[in-house]
Amino acid sequence: MFTNQSIEQSMRIKLDANLPEYPTFKEGIRRAPKRQFTLTKNQTRIALKNALRYIPEELHEKLAPEFMEELKTHGRIYGYRYRPEGALSGKPIDEYKGACTEGKAIQVMIDNNLDFDIALYPYELVTYGETGQVCQNWMQYRLIKKYLEVITQEQTLVVMSGHPLGLFKSSPEAPRVIITNSLMVGMYDNPEWQNKAQAMGVANYGQMTAGGWMYIGPQGIVHGTFNTVMNAGRLKLGIDDDKDLAGVLYVTSGLGGMSGAQGKAVKIANGVGIIAEVDLSRVMTRYEQGWVDSYSDSCEAVFAEAEQYMAKGEGRAIAFHGNVVDLLDYALKNNIKIDLLSDQTSCHVPYDGGYCPQGMSFAERTAMLANDKATFVKRVDQSLKEHYRLIKALVDGGAYFFDYGNAFMKAVYDTGVTEITKNGVDESDGFIFPSYVEDIMGPMLFDYGYGPFRWVCLSGKAEDLRKTDHAAMNCIDPNRRGQDRDNYVWVRDAEKNKLVVGTQARILYQDALGRLKIALKFNEMVRNGEIGPVMLGRDHHDTGGTDSPFRETSNIKDGSNVMAEMAVHCFAGNAARGMSMIALHNGGGVGISKSINGGFGMVLDGSERVDRILQRAMPWDTMVGVARRNWARNENGISTCIEYNELRAGSDHITLPYIADEKLVDGLVDANYNDCLK
Ligand SMILES: NC(=O)c1ccc[n+]([C@@H]2O[C@H](COP(=O)([O-])OP(=O)(O)OC[C@H]3O[C@@H](n4cnc5c(N)ncnc54)[C@H](O)[C@@H]3O)[C@@H](O)[C@H]2O)c1
Repeated sequence: MFTNQSIEQSMRIKLDANLPEYPTFKEGIRRAPKRQFTLTKNQTRIALKNALRYIPEELHEKLAPEFMEELKTHGRIYGYRYRPEGALSGKPIDEYKGACTEGKAIQVMIDNNLDFDIALYPYELVTYGETGQVCQNWMQYRLIKKYLEVITQEQTLVVMSGHPLGLFKSSPEAPRVIITNSLMVGMYDNPEWQNKAQAMGVANYGQMTAGGWMYIGPQGIVHGTFNTVMNAGRLKLGIDDDKDLAGVLYVTSGLGGMSGAQGKAVKIANGVGIIAEVDLSRVMTRYEQGWVDSYSDSCEAVFAEAEQYMAKGEGRAIAFHGNVVDLLDYALKNNIKIDLLSDQTSCHVPYDGGYCPQGMSFAERTAMLANDKATFVKRVDQSLKEHYRLIKALVDGGAYFFDYGNAFMKAVYDTGVTEITKNGVDESDGFIFPSYVEDIMGPMLFDYGYGPFRWVCLSGKAEDLRKTDHAAMNCIDPNRRGQDRDNYVWVRDAEKNKLVVGTQARILYQDALGRLKIALKFNEMVRNGEIGPVMLGRDHHDTGGTDSPFRETSNIKDGSNVMAEMAVHCFAGNAARGMSMIALHNGGGVGISKSINGGFGMVLDGSERVDRILQRAMPWDTMVGVARRNWARNENGISTCIEYNELRAGSDHITLPYIADEKLVDGLVDANYNDCLK
């Protein structure tokens, strides 16, 4: 028989037996709202026992009531007492304890995800996306760090939804850390059970890079948004590959978490953006950060300013403090020509505060939401219908509208507007306006393999980042494609554009072989002592990392967008090829059971071992996605794979699809379809 004493004696890696001081909470740091509590009495007992699993028995009397109180007031047990005192940040790698570079590097990444300047709710371990957590509680945080302090290159740490299951023997060419988050058995794979599982302490909602420990602050979103608006200009306005958005007007809404990147991105593309935002505090945050250049609550003033900058061909980010519906109404009534039009209100949750109805201030919206939800819902519906009417009229006038992955069209459809659907009846065939991945990012970037590749200079030195920027620039041929030219300019101007928040990180939307070239160059620089170690990685929102039918895989039209096999293969393939840290998650930016997504982190320590891993893992991580897109008959995917088959003859080989004659297929289906139904 075992006792708590024998359990304690058996573990060499565990939390200390002394009670930590209760930390002080800094004023002004955003706190997570209470999470919904739906546990039964028995599940509540389980939740308490689960949290106490981390705690030596002599502290149970003291901590059990504290954990119960957290469950009562927060709907979750975060184990606040175990949060280290003060601010966390990704410190220079040498300041961490560790038996190998990877062990220390991964600690830098975790702490960066919890930095006050980066994390949405740092005390609740939420990095971004409302619920995307590094791990579930501070006991896990402490224990993960203890493991990372001792892990060697002969071991792998297994992390299941934030819980460090243990260290197991592996090899230097195997991952050091394997992470999964919120993967659920099919029959329980829904938000209700996810919520229960989180409250019981067995699931962590990792979003993408929050639970995959590769978030690098808002910089990642700026480059994605830059690419979206730039390529929208190319595709829809006929802008040449070597030109920018000079003289182009982009009108949109939202200066919140992700949407707040729009001003900076359009300005970097040298276009003019007017971004409507109802909440003055968010306008001021972006203004003070320099992410918008000016603000006004007059429609006339913002359009006049935009015209001035368009005429000069200069970039400008202008905030309109007010409702986007009023802004569009003004534009229509005054015959103002808008080139690119989008929306980034939080329409994935329109009735919970994500969308502010026309005709009320932000404060009135907050009050009505709390006091009269039924009227609020009606007002949201009215406003969305009007918003849609205005967009349609502006599109008729020549604007190109795209849905920014915020479920705007779905929200309009849910108000009863069936004409927004392609078949005029229901959403099964999609909506009349394209979404940003379906029309822009998918064909222009993901199908070629361009995606959110990133790196972190683990020394924490700005000079290392500068050196890597230059080295990356030298790896790019700006004359190959428009996308390469964009990347060249992006990385050339990155320092000037002041994109770093938190660790010294850079994002660069590279393709497969471009990523490999840069990775090998950086590892050589580490080897030569030119720079300190580097962590490579990417957002899961990439070519091959995510199966998500309404977002990342929305331009996959061979029926396989209902499958989640690519993300799993990407993850497994990265494990087999030895990436330092790999992650696989349920949910991501679209919600539980709506996507499977994964990512990686790769520590460059200058060794030849790392060169070998890069050679086999980097092309795979991206080309799995390009190969899938090619098999779905996506044109740019096919041409990229034809080129790849040539370049990598003898090592890699991708199956290409024969293209059926449309007339042949149509004729046969027309003649036989009704018989098939019999
Ligand atoms: N940027 C991206 O790369 C990206 C990618 C995928 C999805 N999205 C989606 O975009 C949406 C926005 O994301 P976020 O993180 O910025 O959310 P957020 O809630 O932080 O920001 C949305 C902002 O819109 C403002 N707003 C709401 N209604 C308004 C109205 N009628 N007029 C003017 N302003 C209004 C809100 O005050 C808020 O500041 C989400 O639905 C998200 O899923 C963004």
